[in-house]
Amino acid sequence: MKVFKTKTELKTYFKEIKSENDKIGFVPTMGALHQGHLSLIKQSKENNHFTVASIFVNPTQFDKKEDLDNYPKTLESDLDLLEKAACDIVFAPSIEEIYHDNIVSIHFDFDGLENEMEGKYRAGHFNGVGTILKTLFEIIAPTNAYFGEKDFQQLQIVRKMVKKSKLYVSVIGCPIYREDSGLAMSSRNKRLSEKEKKAASIIYKVLKKVVEKSSSETISDIEQWVSVEFKNHPLFDLEYFTIADIETLKTVSKLSPNSQYRAFIAVYANTVRLIDNISINT
Ligand code: PAJ
Repeated sequence: MKVFKTKTELKTYFKEIKSENDKIGFVPTMGALHQGHLSLIKQSKENNHFTVASIFVNPTQFDKKEDLDNYPKTLESDLDLLEKAACDIVFAPSIEEIYHDNIVSIHFDFDGLENEMEGKYRAGHFNGVGTILKTLFEIIAPTNAYFGEKDFQQLQIVRKMVKKSKLYVSVIGCPIYREDSGLAMSSRNKRLSEKEKKAASIIYKVLKKVVEKSSSETISDIEQWVSVEFKNHPLFDLEYFTIADIETLKTVSKLSPNSQYRAFIAVYANTVRLIDNISINT
């Protein structure tokens, strides 16, 4: 596995090894890797000649400086995991290498996708995500780029950006990788106490129940049920629960057989914010 810190080194290496029709699979990450990230590497390896992972804690997507400062940085163990997963190339640039001395976001028009759910709670977040991914796509020029459905809104926003910016990359969505308990894997899970981690299986249990209920109950009854499930919970606070159309990400009050929907949830365990989602009708 080759590890590069500069664009020039990476591009020079590609010139050496890559034939014209070779496919490059790309898995962008912010490090603190877990099995969820590695499931994307596995998927990429199955469908491409080379797999590149990036590790870069992107400053422009954090709205609070303390979140950026506190983001876990575990480069050595990340490289170890990537090596074991037989990733071919890792790009781990410095902030200067990417932003020079101008740490700002491009302003994107994602047709309103950026204003729903996570966008309501994290100002400027998706412009930061769009900025770093556009930059990384330009440097790496991947054939396929892999994103987890764990961050479903991000996945749809990347698809929108690629389409609008006419970038030549296929965006592939990959299933949410879960703990045996059902808890979606996340680097934040490490910040949960044992008790919270065990109890957090409620999130996926609730989502599965929502799918079951969606065939017979109204959305407003389902929303009410979810809010009661969390209202008296000693460990969790519900930030939002919504059922939305997967194309517009807008909350719906009724399901139509011609559209696809997902249920989305964000929950706080103390200061740790957990998100999850599930397909309603696919
Ligand atoms: P990060 O949170 O490190 O996630 C990197 C990728 O791993 C994302 O596509 C995310 O959806 C996916 N992922 C995380 N947990 C997963 C799980 N349990 N199952 C499946 N996939 C999972 O998302 C980011 O970084 C950044 O915003 C980034 C895209 C790298 C831009 O900076």
